Parts: sequence; structure tokens; C-alpha cells
Amino acid sequence: MIALGIEGTAHTLGIGIVTENKVLANVFDTLKTEKGGIHPKEATEHHAKLLKPLLRKALEEAGVSMEDIDVIAFSQGPGLGPALRVVATAARALAIKYNKPIVGVNHCIAHVEITKMFGIKDPVGLYVSGGNTQVLALEGKRYRVFGETLDIGIGNALDVFARELGLGFPGGPKIEKLALKGEKYIELPYAVKGMDLSFSGLLTEAIRKYKSGKYRVEDLAYSFQETAFAALVEVTERALAHTEKEEVVLVGGVAANNRLREMLKIMAEDRGVKFFVPPYDLCRDNGAMIAYTGLEMYKAGIKFKLEETIVKQKFRTDEVEIIW
Ligand code: KG4
Repeated sequence: MIALGIEGTAHTLGIGIVTENKVLANVFDTLKTEKGGIHPKEATEHHAKLLKPLLRKALEEAGVSMEDIDVIAFSQGPGLGPALRVVATAARALAIKYNKPIVGVNHCIAHVEITKMFGIKDPVGLYVSGGNTQVLALEGKRYRVFGETLDIGIGNALDVFARELGLGFPGGPKIEKLALKGEKYIELPYAVKGMDLSFSGLLTEAIRKYKSGKYRVEDLAYSFQETAFAALVEVTERALAHTEKEEVVLVGGVAANNRLREMLKIMAEDRGVKFFVPPYDLCRDNGAMIAYTGLEMYKAGIKFKLEETIVKQKFRTDEVEIIW
């Protein structure tokens, strides 16, 4: 079977075409803003403008036509309302025009589900992106969030810190590069609160220390990463201990970070669990993960009536019953 997936929860519009075990196409375009913040209106215009050309490109890359598609999936939430509505409207229009079934997919779940295309069965997922930071895993028939950020996403924290250092956007890769030259650990507020995370205190203190002029920026970048990532690894490890699962996956845009990968890998090896990171284009916001999850849902008998395709800005991870 072949599924088409449209992703558009934030600043990336992505269209993917997949079968059960292969990505046939996965194309994107990310709205670039100087400061890295997301502007709903700009994201909406961006998605609306690029939908048609990206769809054409995806079909061409996959070597299929709309008639070959078995199901149309779209990111139903969580995300920016206006951006979500562009995507849902496009998915509905395609479903009506080509008389295809349609399913709405939870964005956070799709980030983890795509790892199953690579033989992962039942993982704990650490999902880290600009706006989201969650540790999630299946418990019973639902994905449960074991820990999440109480304020900003880790990617956003890195982006803001980089901006303060005058490094531009996206900040994550720039902080990573700078951190490689760090020599000394500088104490910063630890980000774990119970099972949850909080990065705003860490960010404020790192900026304050930078402005004091008393510290090397390389040491600050290094310490920022060490402190934030240790917190992420700690919460992930506790979720692994609680669930007794044997796989851990790292997904989301920040999964590109080699230091975070290394720290998680060490923890996984210590515990004797498998560690996996998908190829980067399937880690970041992308249409293939939506298509793949939509295909699994459809095969399990899920099909949305048009009135059920309404977007959910605050779509919770544990709202979806996982029957596939
Ligand atoms: O939010 P996201 O999944 O959106 C995209 O689809 O692009 O990923 C973007 C986030 C940004 O916050 C960016 O700074 C971060 O991922 N990021 C990184 C790295 N590469 C991207 N963070 C840390 N280290 C990296 N190498």
C-alpha cells in the first residue's frame, strides 16, 4: 500500500510518500525567519504557497500518481492553528477530489512511530525539537508522556542562547560547534523538575553569565549542552526503568546533535537497551512520518469522516488509542 502524508504543524511543510517499509519521497520546505520564532501568519502563507509545488515534487520523486495513493494522512496537531488548517484543508480537498480515505495523525506520536519502519518495536522515545521536548512510550494502548518541558523546548532554548551570543538561527548546530572547544564546566541550573524538564532558568543564567563577560563562550556553550542534555538523559533513563522497555529512540530536530546522541548511547549501553536514531530527514518535521503512521492507522481499520478531520492545536499525545 502507498500513503501520502502532509506535515505542517509549525514552520516546516513536508510531504512524504511511503509504503509499509520504504520511503518513496520525503520533501520539505522550512520557513526561514531571522530570529527563529514562528509567525503563524507567515507559516500559513508559506504552507499555502508551497503545497502544490511540493506535492508535485513528491509524486515525481516517488514515481507515482495521486491515483496510486491508498490513503491520505495529515498532521492534525498539536501545532499552530492556522498552519494546521492549511494542511487539513489540502488533505480534505485531495481526499474528495481523488476519492481517497483520509486520516489525521498526531505529530508527536508520528515522530516515534516512524522508527518502526526500521525494525524498532516498542521504544521509549526522546522527542526533542524547537518547540517540543517529550519523553514518551506506549503504556497499554496509549502513548504516555513520562516527562516533558514545562516551559520552552530544548531546541528553542539553544536557539535563544545562540541568538544572545550573536550566532544567528538555527542556534543548535552553532552551539554544538562552539561546545567542542569548551574546556571547563561552568555550573548552571539543572533542568529536571520531578519527571519534567524546565529550560528557562538554565537559559536565563547562561545568558547572565555570558553578559558578565567573566566566562569563555566556548565553556558556556559546552556547559549549556552538558547540563541540558544530562537532564534529558536522566528523564529518559527513568522512563526506561519504569517501563522496562528495551529500546530507546532519539527523534526531532535536536537529534542531529552528536553530543546528545553520545550521552544517550552511553546510558543505553549501560542499561543494555538498544539505541536508535533515524536518518535526519525522518527525525525533523517531515511528511514521511505522517504518511507512515497514517498508513498503519488505516491498515488497522481507522478512517476519518470529513467532520472528524478538524484540527487540534492542543492534540495530546495520550488522546490517541493505539490499535495498530
Ligand atoms: O523543530 P525542528 O524539528 O524543526 C524542523 O523541522 O526544522 O528542528 C529544529 C530545531 C532547532 O531548534 C535547531 O536549533 C535544532 O533543531 N537543531 C539542533 C541541531 N540541529 C538542529 N540542536 C542541537 N544540535 C544540532 N546539531
